[in-house]
Formats: sequence, structure tokens, C-alpha cells
Amino acid sequence: MTPSTRIAVLASGRGSNLQAILDAIAQGALQAEVVGVFSDRRDAQALQRLPAAQRWAAAPRDFADRAAYEAALGDAIAASAPDWIVCAGYMRILGEAFVARFDGKLINIHPSLLPLYKGLHTHARALEAGDTQHGASVHFVVPELDAGTVLAQARVDVLPGDSPETLAARVLAVEHPLLIASLQLLASGRVTEQNAQLQLDGHPLFSPLVLDSARMLQPA
Ligand code: GRF
Repeated sequence: MTPSTRIAVLASGRGSNLQAILDAIAQGALQAEVVGVFSDRRDAQALQRLPAAQRWAAAPRDFADRAAYEAALGDAIAASAPDWIVCAGYMRILGEAFVARFDGKLINIHPSLLPLYKGLHTHARALEAGDTQHGASVHFVVPELDAGTVLAQARVDVLPGDSPETLAARVLAVEHPLLIASLQLLASGRVTEQNAQLQLDGHPLFSPLVLDSARMLQPA
């Protein structure tokens, strides 16, 4: 039996992306196991989605400083020996030492078409700008917020009358298949990253892959 890909998930809130990963594994669509959920909030709903033995949560304010918190978080994650670490609604910026420790295996899902709208309130900002399309991105994590190389994106149309909430719901519906398709690709070993340059099947990838209507990733 080939060993399955080990995935650790960082989450601060609801955890619907974590649930999408768990569901894809249960359905046999993703050859992987979730080895732990890690949170900066003890009350995060995401924690409840895994058995107690696979949960880690701590409040950063209980540590001397951010470096101490991230060292403890990093130790807990390292102990679960993940192949990939997925930030899925983890609402803190990760420091340089943490990112360096897990360099090349740390990805994030962000609800915008990066490089547009890094940071918070992405849906409201897309509406304010009058954008006709919005979406989500899966990217490698670097210390600068939402600035790492983008692996894949999914687009949705902005509809007349959209509110930040209706738009967020439409984006979330594509986030889940986007994350699963990205993890399928990463787990297959077909994607590598070196010096911020992605390669797919040994060929440089100059623009993000795009999720199609069959929920597959295609070159743009
Ligand atoms: C998602 O929109 C994700 O893109 C963003 O935070 C939200 C988390 O949702 N980073 P959930 O906790 O996975 O339901």
C-alpha cells in the first residue's frame, strides 16, 4: 500500500474547507489523511471536525511573544509529520521563522483573485471596485501576507444585487473544489516549487491553473 499524503490544517474559525478535505478523503477523491487541526482559538468550530487526539489549540496571548507561540505551534505541527500544511481560514500572519521551518509545504486558500485584495474584507472590496468577477486562490505561503506564488484559482461572476455575504457564499462554493483539486495535484508530486517558480510535470508554470466546470485544474 502506498502511504497516503499527510495533511495538517491551520484554522481559526468554521472549518468548512477542512470539512471539504475530510469529505474528499472519505469519498476516495483524495488519497490523503488529515493528521491534525491546529488553531489559535480554542473555540474554533474547525477543531470539532477531528477527534480530540488530533486537535491542538492555544491562545497566542498565553505565550511570551509571537515567536514563542509560533515555536509551540510549529513543534505541534512537526510532531504530526505532515507532507502539506494547509492554512484554511487561519486568521494570523505567520512569521518568517515559522514559514522558513515549513518552507515549500505551506499553502493558503484566500478568497480573492490574487494579487487582487490581499488581507481582509475581500468580498466587500471586490464589490466596491465594481469587479465583474471574483474568486479564490491557492498559493504558497511566504512571510508577506497573501503574496506567495499562486498555484490555482477559481472564478465566479459577480451578480447584480450581490452583497458581501452572497458573494462570499458563491466564492466558498468554489473554494472547496479548488482546494481539493490543488491538494490532489500537490499530493501527486506533479507540482514543485523552487525560488518562487512553480513547475508542473517539470515545466515552468507562469500563470495560475484555473478550476474548470468539471472541477479540474487546467492551464489558463
Ligand atoms: C475562507 O473563505 C478562506 O478562503 C478564508 O477564510 C475562510 C475560511 O472558511 N481564508 P472556513 O473556516 O474554511 O469555513
